[in-house]
Amino acid sequence: MATNKDKKHYISRSESRAIAKENSKAIRHFEKQKKRRAKPDDYTAQMKDDNNIIEFEDLHTYFFSDAGTVKAVNGVTFSIPAGSTVGVVGESGCGKSVTSLSLMQLVQAPSGQIVSGSIRFKASLFKRDARGKKIPVYEYETETDENGNQAVKLNENGEPVIKLNKKGKKIIKKNELGGNLYEMEDRVVDIAKMPTDAMRSIRGREIAMIFQEPMTSLNPVFTIGNQLDEVGLLHIEGISKKQVKARSIEMLKLVGIADAEGVYKKFPHELSGGMRQRVMIAIALLCNPKLIIADEPTTALDVTIQAQILELLRDIKHKINGSIMLITHDLGVVAEMADYVVVMYAGRVIEMGTAEDIFDHPMHPYTIGLQKSKPTVDGEVDKLYCIPGFVPNPINMPDYCYFRDRCEMCKEKCAGEYPGYVQVSPTHKVACYLYEDTKEDGDGK
Ligand SMILES: Nc1ncnc2c1ncn2[C@@H]1O[C@H](COP(=O)(O)OP(=O)(O)OP(=O)(O)O)[C@@H](O)[C@H]1O
Ligand code: SF4
Ligand SMILES: [Mg+2]
Repeated sequence: MATNKDKKHYISRSESRAIAKENSKAIRHFEKQKKRRAKPDDYTAQMKDDNNIIEFEDLHTYFFSDAGTVKAVNGVTFSIPAGSTVGVVGESGCGKSVTSLSLMQLVQAPSGQIVSGSIRFKASLFKRDARGKKIPVYEYETETDENGNQAVKLNENGEPVIKLNKKGKKIIKKNELGGNLYEMEDRVVDIAKMPTDAMRSIRGREIAMIFQEPMTSLNPVFTIGNQLDEVGLLHIEGISKKQVKARSIEMLKLVGIADAEGVYKKFPHELSGGMRQRVMIAIALLCNPKLIIADEPTTALDVTIQAQILELLRDIKHKINGSIMLITHDLGVVAEMADYVVVMYAGRVIEMGTAEDIFDHPMHPYTIGLQKSKPTVDGEVDKLYCIPGFVPNPINMPDYCYFRDRCEMCKEKCAGEYPGYVQVSPTHKVACYLYEDTKEDGDGK
């Protein structure tokens, strides 16, 4: 006969049926939300701080699996200031990738869904007319006025005369990428509430992503040129094939590929790992994004190429005047690149601050453990420090501090509810009961 203890290790048929029923109900609800027709006002938001380009607030992204609900991202709150590099660190499975995929609305559906919270983004969106169509900016006929100056020609009703091409079609002005110019508007949107359709105008154009493994992200049966051009043709409306090829080659040159024309014609397997990663960066840069998400961009590369790619990312951030969200479990990479660091553990942010805050004054016992487990060149160590224990099961998270079962500093209060943030300095926040007395202003999340 099964004891109560045994029962914890398996799910009975009736429990499994109940989970499946709950899952399909939840999935149906979220999928309907994503497919709904919504006006921009329905997902317009307000930035808490105007200097930020992204603000995550209490984001929850779950996977509705057969074994139960995996709370992969369980209340994540942090911001990316415009023009900065924010490093997101934490051990494998802590929710770094799922946080970034939520930002791109690329969480593996239907089981993966953004359940609640906000992802506010300062976007430049196409203005739409009453029928929902983009509003083109046309080229106008000009004429010389009585003072000899060039002025827009007006018709008998006083309206500007639009230039026509040989076929009698109105000529649309070109933007800096060679595509059609449309009227744009700056609008803060909440990506967590945006329908899938609307997200298409942001993904790839305003926010681009560089994935960990370029070999699996590039399609092996198409040339590099095909794959670059495809992105350009998809996102830059009105661009000609000749212009898109020129832009693709320009981007390959920008990422430091000397023989750009040659590489344009090659297949991914003909390139080295470092070159493939450069191609991935070129694809990400094609539409001048404001934010680049780099998910472990150097994990598959050797140290020298890793240094080159990091240098390239830094260089490009200045060139495009954008921001980078750099996801890694390599503290060395973060120390070299990031202005701000966000430390995640079991689907939550447990500490955040400037790179100096986190590296010179780590406060959360987990961050302290991470720093201790880092190998150093000068220090003589017999054995590297290892944080004892395991991350809690994401299906069955405890209601107390998620790090408590591994924490060597825990106190009585830690058995109570999950700790809120303690603002230990204007730039440094930590979710831990040890620092309650140093509290400046906690927001209780
Ligand atoms: N498609 C999926 N279905 C079910 N669970 C998933 C899926 N993708 C991720 N998860 C779960 O979500 C949690 C967070 O995963 P995530 O990929 O974000 O981790 P990570 O921090 O990026 O780790 P790594 O450093 O290994 O890339 C993990 O517990 C993982 O098992
Ligand atoms: S709240 Fe308590 S258990 Fe959690 S990390 Fe801080 S000291 Fe450790
Ligand atoms: Mg990951």
